[in-house]
Amino acid sequence: MGLLSRKATGNSHVQDSSYFLGWQEYEKNPYEEKKNPEGIIQMGLAENQLSFDLLESWLAKNPDPAGFKRDGQSIFRELALFQDYHGLHAFKKALIEFMSEIRGNEVTFDPNNIVLAAGATSANEILMFCLAEPGDAFLLPTPYYPGFDRDLKWRTGVEIVPIQCTSSNGFQITETALEEAYQHAQKQNLKVKGVLVTNPSNPLGTTMSCNELNLLVDFIAAKNIHLISDEIYSGTVFSSPGFISIMELLKDRNCENTEVWNRVHIVYSLSKDLGLPGFRVGALYSNDDMVVAAATKMSSFGLVSSQTQYLLSAMLSDKKFTRNYISENQKRLKQRQKTLVSGLEKAGISCLKSNAGLFCWVDMRHLLSSNTFEAEMELWKKIVYDVKLNISPGSSCHCTEPGWFRVCFANMSAETLHLSMQRLKAFVDSTTNLHNHQSVKNSRRKSLTKWVFRLSFDDREPCGER
Ligand SMILES: Cc1ncc(COP(=O)(O)O)c(C=O)c1O
Repeated sequence: MGLLSRKATGNSHVQDSSYFLGWQEYEKNPYEEKKNPEGIIQMGLAENQLSFDLLESWLAKNPDPAGFKRDGQSIFRELALFQDYHGLHAFKKALIEFMSEIRGNEVTFDPNNIVLAAGATSANEILMFCLAEPGDAFLLPTPYYPGFDRDLKWRTGVEIVPIQCTSSNGFQITETALEEAYQHAQKQNLKVKGVLVTNPSNPLGTTMSCNELNLLVDFIAAKNIHLISDEIYSGTVFSSPGFISIMELLKDRNCENTEVWNRVHIVYSLSKDLGLPGFRVGALYSNDDMVVAAATKMSSFGLVSSQTQYLLSAMLSDKKFTRNYISENQKRLKQRQKTLVSGLEKAGISCLKSNAGLFCWVDMRHLLSSNTFEAEMELWKKIVYDVKLNISPGSSCHCTEPGWFRVCFANMSAETLHLSMQRLKAFVDSTTNLHNHQSVKNSRRKSLTKWVFRLSFDDREPCGER
């Protein structure tokens, strides 16, 4: 009999997935321009380091909140004392107003319906505890954020059933895929409690179309289940089509005070939009008072510290600052994404057309030795160990097609991004030369085909004037 619990010793934490293994390899040999120029460049981390200067200049102009002060007087003792799990009202108000600002003030939120948590990680888990029993299932469209296997399943005992999305329509959710996932869960005797989506998507870097959102609402209405929309990247949308929050869609459909209204929940965090994952500030928002009450009690396992709440309530209440931050940050992300896409193009690599997020969903199918996940791992290892770029293989995001990779662009300097593209191009050129050489030797072997993925947003259903 073991001394430790099954949970502590089991591997359902998924720390051994290639997503996390890549991070470990990076830690062993991290690239540094001067000290370790041959090291691995971290492109597997969805961090936003592009707008720290904006935050720092606000802090320099507003020294009181970070110095435990109000109007020049110390409030250290007030902040140091025990806080209840409801959080500071001033912070909740500032946070919901920031969320509205990101949504172009098309939707307003009630501060009584928001529950603070230590990041979206904690908020997602709390929702699982509130909505499902161990052994119940949530349906998630693939590819999805690898951390969900840990956050949604590990401690709660909830199961994830994939909604299989494919490149044939730019990985959009279809009615058939939803229904198939539901049937699949039922065949496994799993009770489906809801659907969880990320909008904008991690890893796709795209916003959901109106058509997809409508499908989801119709689906959860018909099946009498919940919908969680993880909108952690809502402030990173840098080009059209714009972002439509699920709450906005529900309002447009006049769903307020209907049953569906109470079964839709949002997850948010400042880890991506403000680039503060270390501050551990997340939240869930629900229209259901019972979910809010239960989640508030559960949040005592992962509260946001009072000095963080105090600091950020001052920052987020500064509307001039937040407005400028949101638009400037989006401009910078857009520029970065462009740099990555053109660098990839020069190496003959295309990616899914994206308009949001801190990464691109990159198509390297033409570089695989065969159309298998083994070949994907083989290519991934070459890219990590030889090219020295840590990117995330699609299989770690449960993609059903081998050859797709998530590549992050906002956690490094522009120079490092350029260097990473040079390394990748050199690798592709050498691979292509090798292939060409072999095809001369063996005339039966087909030459390397280059596949250009074209996703036209024009094909997507318009949703009003966006
Ligand atoms: C879709 C998604 N949800 C949740 C998280 C976790 O975020 P947090 O740092 O707020 O816990 C991430 C982080 O990458 C994410 O991409």
